[in-house]
Amino acid sequence: MAQYDLIVIGAGPGGYVCAIRAAQLGLRVAVAEGRETLGGTCLNVGCIPSKALLHATHSLHEAQANFARMGLRVAPPEVDWPAMLAYKDGVIAQNTGGIEFLFKKNGIDWLRGWASIPEAGRVAVGETTHEARAIVIATGSEASTLPGVSLDEEVVVSSTGALALPAIPRRLAVIGAGVIGLEMGSVYARLGAEVTVLEYLDAITPGMDGEVSKQFQRLLQKQGLKFVLGTAVRSVERHDGGAVVTHQPRKSNEPATLEADVVLVATGRKPFVKGLGLEALGVEMTPRGQIATDARYETSVRGIHAIGDVREGPMLAHKAEDEGMAVAEILAGRHGHVNYGVIPSVIYTTPEVATLGLTEEALKAEGRAYRAGRFPFMGNGRAKAVFQGEGFVKILADAATDRILGAHIVGPMAGDLIHEVAVAMEFGASAEDLARTCHAHPTFSEAVREAALACGDGAIHA
Ligand code: NAI
Repeated sequence: MAQYDLIVIGAGPGGYVCAIRAAQLGLRVAVAEGRETLGGTCLNVGCIPSKALLHATHSLHEAQANFARMGLRVAPPEVDWPAMLAYKDGVIAQNTGGIEFLFKKNGIDWLRGWASIPEAGRVAVGETTHEARAIVIATGSEASTLPGVSLDEEVVVSSTGALALPAIPRRLAVIGAGVIGLEMGSVYARLGAEVTVLEYLDAITPGMDGEVSKQFQRLLQKQGLKFVLGTAVRSVERHDGGAVVTHQPRKSNEPATLEADVVLVATGRKPFVKGLGLEALGVEMTPRGQIATDARYETSVRGIHAIGDVREGPMLAHKAEDEGMAVAEILAGRHGHVNYGVIPSVIYTTPEVATLGLTEEALKAEGRAYRAGRFPFMGNGRAKAVFQGEGFVKILADAATDRILGAHIVGPMAGDLIHEVAVAMEFGASAEDLARTCHAHPTFSEAVREAALACGDGAIHA
């Protein structure tokens, strides 16, 4: 008999959620994790620390921009950068410690060290080999750089370095107008850095609804971020006290350069599978370097499964969590399932951006008849009262059935508001269902209802 029913490799949101769910369902579970703390990239150097810095700098901006407007007189706030980093580190410690507590509570063993898989049914961690009926690979992803650009995590940094800079840079160059670039760019712009974002495509946030992307760019520009779109970064060269970024604008023959004290490379992430021994095992990979899996998250080698950033789909903590739960349920003999059509995506800037389901661009490309209901936060009393009247909610519904197909929000608490639409979509609701649901006044969520009303006879406050 194997020592464990399940060994999960990697204790990020995918892996730790999988382990907890499997333990709850009666499996004997261990998790191999080489980091000093549990929680993976998300808790240690990703989602959680970035949210701490976003919150601190948002508060700074509130004090600078809005306190006086509300009759609050305070001395101009000062930034104590080491203290802000210490606050962020405290938040990380609280969260990673929380996972350790949950492991103990659920009887999950932590195998400390970097794991490899010598064969199906076995996981080697350090000098010890453990046996398991099933293995789940949940090793996540790492920053992918560009050819000609190497990270030193001091001057040329990934998100990891950007979360722990020794000082606030005067000039920050960000390569890539995706989620990481815009969240970290916002943090440093609020701290007074001159932030320039270089993006290969002609719009920011690739794949997002075009109207959202345009409005979001305008709002970020108002906050001082500069954008150079349609340009490909070719190289980054370090020199004393900084770096120079060379990029090639698509509409010009001449390359251009940008001087910066720190360069953040945020051009995407790639699966992290180093050292697992997948090649020797013959685990099939996709052409994009992801682990290929079937509908049960099983790889081409029986008994070895993969979830989260190492396999296809959006590289999002919550997608990994859902896959972790699904695979745990499958291994426990139940029917695990993830609805990939209803996975929200959120950018935690101010205002927040949240999207879900299909975009207008995708619907047009499919030639589907749809109705779009829009509502601006300027018509929402609560949003105006707190100086957050910028942005809008857009709901897309099937023209014939009124079934909700997507939702796109730029505005206050967008990342939370999107979930009422997510629940509605999970239940196959129509826009009218949402519009007929009583929403408390005054709340931001009334803007969601108004957008749903706008899919029908019209919004009230617009
Ligand atoms: P991303 O894929 O979101 O954006 C990368 C951007 O870099 C793209 O716009 C791309 O066109 C651009 N780019 C690529 N090569 C370039 C070049 N040579 N010159 C100029 N621009 C170039 O990747 P990002 O922001 O690094 O994030 C990685 C992953 O982490 C994403 O999957 C993201 O969803 C996830 N993430 C999610 C967060 C959230 O949900 N709030 C927060 C942070 C990361």
